[in-house]
Order: sequence, then C-alpha cells, then structure tokens
Amino acid sequence: MKLVKHIAGLGYGSRREVIALLRAGRVTDADGAVLGERDAIEHARIRLDGQALDVAPGFIAMLHKPVGYTCSTRDAGRLVHDLLPSRWRARNPQVSTVGRLDRETSGLLLLTDDGGLLHRIISPRAQVEKVYEVELAQDLRGDEAALFASGKLLLDGETTTLAPARLQALGPRSARLTVCEGRYHQVRRMFAATGNHVVRLHRAAVGSLELRGLASGQWRLLEDDDVALVFGARKP
Ligand code: URA
Repeated sequence: MKLVKHIAGLGYGSRREVIALLRAGRVTDADGAVLGERDAIEHARIRLDGQALDVAPGFIAMLHKPVGYTCSTRDAGRLVHDLLPSRWRARNPQVSTVGRLDRETSGLLLLTDDGGLLHRIISPRAQVEKVYEVELAQDLRGDEAALFASGKLLLDGETTTLAPARLQALGPRSARLTVCEGRYHQVRRMFAATGNHVVRLHRAAVGSLELRGLASGQWRLLEDDDVALVFGARKP
C-alpha cells in the first residue's frame, strides 16, 4: 500500500496532512532515513518523529468495559472509544466493537478493524460462547436452568426461540450464564422472561478468552493465541 494512504488510514491525518509530514522529513525508517511518498516499506520500520506507528491494520483488541460507557462512536455521554487511543477514531478501516454490551454492562469487549474477523466471531455458525456473571433483584426460582437449556424460550417480540444456554446458579441471586447468541439485551430479557430483573451484568469471557487481570477501563491488543481462545481453544 502507498505510504500516504497507509499513514492516513492509521488516523494520523488526511492524505494532504500526511503528505505535508513526509515533505517536512518527519517520516523516516527505523535507521532515520527520510521517507518519500513513493517509498515502499513495512509498517514495523516506519517512524513518525522517531516514534513507531500505531498498530498495523488487521488488529483485534479487548477492553475491560466499565459500566456507564456506550458502545457507539456518536451517542451523547461516555463512549467506549473514549477509553482507547484517540487516533483509533480516525482510522480507515474503522475500529468497531464486536457486538455490543449495554451501557450498564461491564466486562470483556472486543474491538477490531478487521471486518472478516468480526463476522467470523459473531456468526451464528461460529457458536462463540459468551459467559456472563449476573446478579438478580430476586431469588432464582429454580427452573431457570432447565428453561434456558430447553431451546424453547421465546423472548418478547421475537419469532424464533433462543438456542440452548447454560445457567449455573452461584447463589440465590447470582449466576453464571453462557450463551452462544448475541440478541438485543439478551441476558436481561431472558431473566425478565422468568419474572426477575438483572441488577448487575458482567461479561467474564468470550469463548475461552477471559479478562485475566485487565483492570476496568484498560485495553490490550490480542495475540494469535488469544484469538484462538475466542474460538474455543483452552489454555493448557
Ligand atoms: N445481554 C444483555 O442483556 N446485555 C448485554 O450487555 C449483553 C448481553
């Protein structure tokens, strides 16, 4: 890819602005040689004002989303993008969340600029499990696990039943729920269908990938073995 398009696509400025950076001699290779618009060079060797560039296109990251942040680039209020490098908002291809978490849900949120990977993760065929920790307003009735596992639960306003989901009660008002779909407000609506109300919802894992010490509000890039965990492989 052309150097100008590459650097502009990372969010460093418009093509015109990037051309100006190049003409000012601010873009070099790792040895400090000034680069021109027509130079072909691998991403890892490019420097801007002596600094390595942001992550190359085709990346995936995970964020420990706090409560109170919206999965959107435009809504009013606090956005998950506020927790990420500001240049990411100007990237092309754009950085999107892989599915969504409600504003009041915390936990593991994936973000990527790789549309193919995004679709492979959310595709129903991939059957990627999402694990939620749930706190409820009222005690569990006792029949929820069987209902959720039945594959017969029809949520309000929907025409197709939910795929079987696994519920593990952790206490009278707390549970771990594993689902392989991503319908709108799915977990909250599943418990609403049992006459209960979710008061706290936290996504602990996507596939076998867990937050593992990533603090609330923090993010990190995923490595290939993390991506393998998303698709189910477990760490030995
Ligand atoms: N289900 C919900 O109801 N909300 C979320 O944020 C995720 C799953």
